[in-house]
Parts: sequence; C-alpha cells; structure tokens
Amino acid sequence: MESAEYHSALAALAWQIELGADECIADAPVDRYAVPASVQKPKPAAQPAPAPVLQASVDPVTVAQEAARAAQDLEGLRAALAAYEHCELKKGARNLVFSDGVPGARVMIVGEAPGRDEDMQGKPFVGRAGQLLDKMLAAINMSRDETVYITNVLPWRPPQNRDPKPDEVAMMQPFLHRHIELANPDVLVVVGNHSCQALLGKRGITRLRGNWTEARGKPALPMFHPAYLLRNPAAKRDAWADLLSLQAHLRGGT
Ligand code: URA
Repeated sequence: MESAEYHSALAALAWQIELGADECIADAPVDRYAVPASVQKPKPAAQPAPAPVLQASVDPVTVAQEAARAAQDLEGLRAALAAYEHCELKKGARNLVFSDGVPGARVMIVGEAPGRDEDMQGKPFVGRAGQLLDKMLAAINMSRDETVYITNVLPWRPPQNRDPKPDEVAMMQPFLHRHIELANPDVLVVVGNHSCQALLGKRGITRLRGNWTEARGKPALPMFHPAYLLRNPAAKRDAWADLLSLQAHLRGGT
C-alpha cells in the first residue's frame, strides 16, 4: 500500500472508532438503505403447477408381444406391424418392408434391415446385396419366386443405414418370432451379425457361419451377409460352402 493510502485508511478507521463503530459484527457490510423485503411489492402468487396428466406407461416390447401374438396369419402380422407406432424408425421410413418370396417355403432367410432400395420398394433384399443373394440362391437352384421366403429383423430402414439399436431390435423381436412361427419354414438362414445377435443371441459371424445351430425351434444356418461378400469377395468361397451345406440339409443329407 502506498504511504498516502495507508494514512488515509488509518484516518478513516480512527474516524469510525470515534463515531463508535469499534466492533466488527459481520464479515459483510449491511446495506441499511436497502428496501426491506417486508415493504417490497409482493410478487404475484405462483400459479399452481398443472396437475400431471396420468398416462399409463407403455412398454413398447409388451405392446409388440401382444400385437404379434394376436396375429393369426402373415397378412395379420403385416397389418399389426403397420399399426405399431412405438418404433422411431417408422417415422423416417418410406415403406414397411415385411417380406418377399414364397410364404410357407422350406427356407426362410432373415436379413438385418432394409436399405435405401428396400425402403423405396417395400421389399427386402432388392438392392445390390439382394441381387447377389439371388445369384447365390440360383447357384443351388433356389429362388425367392419358388423356394425361399425372405424377411429382416427390422422392417423399417434405419437412417443412413446405421446399425440397428438394441432397443429397436428388442421391440421388433416379438414380430420376428411370430413371423417365423407363421411362415413355419423347415430351416432358417440367418445372414449377418445383427441377425445372429437377434435370433441366436450371438455375434461373431466369421466363427458362427457354416455351423448349424437352432433358433426358434428350427435348424438355423448362420451365413455371411451378401453386403459383406460384396466388400470381401474372398469370403464368397465360404459362402459357397455354406450354400452347399444348406442344399445338403434340405436333401436330408445333414
Ligand atoms: N440388407 C439386409 O439385411 N436386408 C435387406 O433387405 C437389404 C439389405
């Protein structure tokens, strides 16, 4: 502190002591000129909060289970899906993608989710991956026109083709399970990791593929997804082995 400041501070203190302010009562000064709260204009009374609207909480999975269980046939199931309002994906999708192929066929293929082309046409596997799938089936004399039924885990396209989220899969699962019951195929072909996760509860398609297992009480064959095969043509060799295994199984060979 400069000496002039020191001396004026000392003089102010001495003056206060002279006035009788010789005791420190509080850390902060008290503004005696402030208008006391008791004479302040009363604030308008707070409006009572609106009574909460009592809404029964809806569990999307339970709603899906009930809707799926109520469906008596595939058309009923399609209608139940079309009426299901709890999946956000529906809002961004152009079309419901339910199925393609022959209902009641011995082979039911379960893919992951519609992409752009599927969303536009309302049918599963119609884009590049779908064209490859058709060629793969043709290689063992099968086709969606005659011998195969096709669906996906999710019936609506995820935005930007992002991966399905676990809650989306969980709410669509009851529909998928009922779909399998109603289509009643002899075997399931489960393509890609997300489908394996949804139906087999497992991931790791490189390990799972080609190994027959069981899903929903049916023999199930995990296979590489055709979209993966487009990116990794070297894996077509494994896919070919799996197709032959499918063919042998259908002929009663495995
Ligand atoms: N990929 C899928 O898993 N399903 C389709 O319908 C199209 C691409």
